[in-house]
Amino acid sequence: MSKPVRHFLDINELPLGELRNMLSAGAAMKAKLKAHEKGRKPLEGKTLAMIFERPSTRTRVSFDVGMRQLGGESIMLTGAEMQLGRGETIADTARVLSRYVDAIMIRILNHDALLELAAHATVPVINGLTRRSHPCQVMADLMTYEENRGSIEGKTVAWTGDDNNVLASWAHAAERFKFQLNVATPPELSPKKPMRDWIKATGAPIMLGSDPEAAVRGADCVVTDTWVSMGDKEGEHRHNVLRPYQVNAKLMSLAKPDALFMHCLPAHRGEEVTDEVIDGPQSVVFDEAENRLHAQKGILAWCFDAVA
Ligand code: CP
Ligand code: NVA
Repeated sequence: MSKPVRHFLDINELPLGELRNMLSAGAAMKAKLKAHEKGRKPLEGKTLAMIFERPSTRTRVSFDVGMRQLGGESIMLTGAEMQLGRGETIADTARVLSRYVDAIMIRILNHDALLELAAHATVPVINGLTRRSHPCQVMADLMTYEENRGSIEGKTVAWTGDDNNVLASWAHAAERFKFQLNVATPPELSPKKPMRDWIKATGAPIMLGSDPEAAVRGADCVVTDTWVSMGDKEGEHRHNVLRPYQVNAKLMSLAKPDALFMHCLPAHRGEEVTDEVIDGPQSVVFDEAENRLHAQKGILAWCFDAVA
């Protein structure tokens, strides 16, 4: 019997052991790269198709460079340039691409479309961001936390801002990696029923609230993100309700003195975060961006069931 295809769709769908293996493989490859040691090329002859329905800097470049460093290649596609943009179904696109390439990474807002792609692909599918989640980002963030502060288990991470895809992946990570997640969102932009039901059903250590100071007090890590995600409507009202959730020096001072500040980038300086915080000594935002490369190499090696 053939082995099941290894899709990387969401953090809460994979066992902790597998997630930990991806992170340690990524960290080991990073250490070799930094030591200028010749790494293995476990993905020689393999091709990754990258489909982008929305813009990207980090995801696009880090997957491309990651494939090259592992000995493989990538093909960059945009939904608009494909027949997908003219109505070819996701299922047929999955069937066709599976005949050419060895894995597919996709950024698409509609999460159900990602699931449909995975259901019909016979090669691994990687979630490169949907409206619902952004698991590759949070894998890089976990790697960044642990590089700086050791195991995240039992620690407290605070989220301040709106409910979005990055928060969902942090929630999934809190459940798997066993850390406390304190969430502060404006009531009207708080996690929706499916997320609340999931928290209840899994007993994930997540506290939902609307007070940013309460969420951040005593935290080991403070995280925020743009107030307007891809697919959100811009508007003055949204900015007004989110203004009290800005991470500035005053809010940051309530966290532990050695707390880290994280942001997946791109940042809107002066909105969700001030310059003094994002450029300050507690900020690890560019380490997170770098670790997209290293964590994703671990994810790719896992998807291909390759020894990294
Ligand atoms: N953080 C992140 O996913 O960045 P990009 O949108 O540039 O890929
Ligand atoms: N929440 C943001 C993340 C961007 C990487 C968005 O979806 O636009």
